[in-house]
Amino acid sequence: MSQPLLKVAVLASGRGSNLAALIAVREAGTLPVDMVLVGSDKASAGALRLAEAAHIPTLSLNPKDYPDRPSFDRALFARVAASGAELLVLAGFMRVIDAAVVAEWEGRAINIHPSLLPKYPGLHTHRRCLEAGDSEHGASVHYVTAELDGGPVVAQARIPVGPGDTEASLAERLLAEEHRLLPAVVGAIARGRLRWDGEAMFDGRPVAVPLTLAQLS
Ligand code: GRF
Repeated sequence: MSQPLLKVAVLASGRGSNLAALIAVREAGTLPVDMVLVGSDKASAGALRLAEAAHIPTLSLNPKDYPDRPSFDRALFARVAASGAELLVLAGFMRVIDAAVVAEWEGRAINIHPSLLPKYPGLHTHRRCLEAGDSEHGASVHYVTAELDGGPVVAQARIPVGPGDTEASLAERLLAEEHRLLPAVVGAIARGRLRWDGEAMFDGRPVAVPLTLAQLS
């Protein structure tokens, strides 16, 4: 019997290169997921164009059409739920989400963030890493909670920081790692190796230390 496909929705505000990485792995036949929706708060998001090209249903809602943040979030997440998504992936979704709305997705929503969390939640992570003189930078995938970039980290990819590195060079090298890390985490969830049971569990054991790409593959 073939493996059932995990229904995945993605929310993205920008160019969507992490979405593209997911689509590429799925099209290569090595990611057992059905992408049921790509949604955005920006009608011009590149992610929506990528989804259209891949024949994935899309949704764009404008926050300005709603009286406040909770109303927008409720409307958006109701549409995500209606898509049948079992997993929600935030891939460059640049909004803080209402706590009550997020709570309904506990253990079913993940986010990718370009830092070695808990270092540098929020914006400008590459700059902050350089300013701190860190010898290492990285990306994290974490379960989403109401705290911005604050939920339990399940996996990280690391890159060394060299003397010639700039914000742009770090961003470029790290993005390549993100494009491996996110599909690896989604794949582990789709295959049932990584699951949420009040805490993140991998192969039946709590994730005490963020997983590496090597462990996930
Ligand atoms: C990535 O760096 C991701 O870690 C962060 O936002 C960026 C999105 O890039 N959350 P893209 O839209 O996937 O290209």
